[in-house]
Amino acid sequence: MMGIPQPTFYIFKCQQSAPPGMPKPSCVSQNNPESQELMQYLSQTLMQKGIIGAVQPIQSSCLGRCQQGPVILVEPGHTMYVGLTKEKIGRIIDEHLIGGKVVQEYVIPEQMWGDPVEVSSLAR
Ligand code: FES
Repeated sequence: MMGIPQPTFYIFKCQQSAPPGMPKPSCVSQNNPESQELMQYLSQTLMQKGIIGAVQPIQSSCLGRCQQGPVILVEPGHTMYVGLTKEKIGRIIDEHLIGGKVVQEYVIPEQMWGDPVEVSSLAR
């Protein structure tokens, strides 16, 4: 008997919003009305395409790259996409999640996303 398949991808969508008047940038912002609709757009598009479940969208808090928001993190692959709009999310779904090819032009610049540090080298 087949079990329930695990998701192929998790998509962490940063839903952090700074209070109005806060100078700190955030992924969901009063100044960017489209930023308030991206989570719903992501979930709806996955549903319309019949791939929700295989692709599991997760609302997350701050992912630590607020200057580049709105951001999502695609796992596995550790792919951080930045400066997102509905149009860009649509392309990521079609080309990366369905097509299997990372959309390089929306990936965070390398100097903002250096190689991870070996955890054992930090542990006390
Ligand atoms: S608010 Fe989205 S990464 Fe910090």
